[in-house]
Amino acid sequence: MTIGYSGVEKIDDLIDADQGLVSRHVFSDPAIYEMELQRIFARCWQFLGHESQIPRAGDFVSAYLGEDPVVVVRQDDGSITGFLNVCRHRGMRICKLDAGNAAGFSCSYHGWAYDRRGKIVDVPFGEMYANAPLDEGWAAVPVAQVASYKGLIFGTFDPEAPSLVDYLGDMAYYLDVLVDRREGGTELVGGANKWIMDCNWKYGAENFVQDGHHAFSSHISALMAVQPDDAEVTDFPGGCTVTPGGGHGGGWFAEPTLDMVVRDEVLLKYHREVVRPESIRRLGAERDPVHNIGVGTVFPNFSFLTGVQTIRVWVPRGPHHMEVRSWTIVDRDAPQEVKDAQLRLVRTTFSPSGLLEQDDGENWSMCQDTLRGYVSRQLSSNVRMGLGKPIDGDMAVPGRVMHGWNEEPGRGFFERYRHLMSEPTSRVWSGR
Ligand code: FES
Ligand SMILES: [Fe+2]
Repeated sequence: MTIGYSGVEKIDDLIDADQGLVSRHVFSDPAIYEMELQRIFARCWQFLGHESQIPRAGDFVSAYLGEDPVVVVRQDDGSITGFLNVCRHRGMRICKLDAGNAAGFSCSYHGWAYDRRGKIVDVPFGEMYANAPLDEGWAAVPVAQVASYKGLIFGTFDPEAPSLVDYLGDMAYYLDVLVDRREGGTELVGGANKWIMDCNWKYGAENFVQDGHHAFSSHISALMAVQPDDAEVTDFPGGCTVTPGGGHGGGWFAEPTLDMVVRDEVLLKYHREVVRPESIRRLGAERDPVHNIGVGTVFPNFSFLTGVQTIRVWVPRGPHHMEVRSWTIVDRDAPQEVKDAQLRLVRTTFSPSGLLEQDDGENWSMCQDTLRGYVSRQLSSNVRMGLGKPIDGDMAVPGRVMHGWNEEPGRGFFERYRHLMSEPTSRVWSGR
């Protein structure tokens, strides 16, 4: 039996990560997308929110694990739990709000009521269930594991998944540049931006796992627009990438890229005089270059940009669409004028109306659009930049660092993807 429209029998025939060849079917085939929902999104750790969104008992946020809606709730004991946002009666969303504070949740269809942990506490006409009791097995399906990494909340439906720290592995070292650069930690400001893009979720994830080099061609006009009239924007800085394993990856620009994107002197001064010195004291000098605009993706679909300070999730919405959910992340100890400036920066660069986001959105949606063609779908995506180049063994940092722009982390991303897609799972919800 073949997989979807691809004509091949196993996923290994669609992806040769060692050679950087990825069949374009994985960006468009409905059957492959369906496999992703089970084999990737029903078991990998995914970003759910930030602890600053739910500081008090009863605070909640809505999120997604794959296409499954979930609610994440702060409990009385300070712990964070989550449950599938699907009523066990007919499947209505239990909670329709994005965020708030609640003693419990009541389904608006027939009024089944759930407590903060998703247990059923009241049902209208309850006496009519005397012979069909709504026991614990009818509670909202729990998110099997919820854990935080320095403020970032992740969850998985897989009860046997490794711990979050083990899952992040060496990627945590680079994530620290975003979330642990100052003593007070981080918080989100300005709420979420949410919008639909006409492309597969992997276009966003793969771009952020490594892709600094697209800035040379994609973003040059946007960068010219934010620079003074007499500035030279033709000489782009180099960069390097890291492949830390687990399908995660990242890269960072050489100096002075942040100054090319940021013109706000309040932000530049704060970055230069506060963030980087404190970060060097806390994290060491080896990670300092990552501040100068670093990109990263935590497999499968959580990405971030240091310097600009945006985090986002590429929520899958079928093979041809994704929902982007993005936030601005700031240092909790930063002055208010810096927080305001950071929010302004994200809104004008990486948001639905952001200058650079527009460039990316056009690229990704046009890549997706060409997949409508039969012949176009038969091609392979070329993820071969830097293939065979040496890994730098001199860097005293974890992961495989390669100097010069390259697509080594993309090969790591698709190798992890291939591995998970080749391995059926039965370790997800098996109740009623
Ligand atoms: S669907 Fe929720 S109470 Fe009926
Ligand atoms: Fe971009």
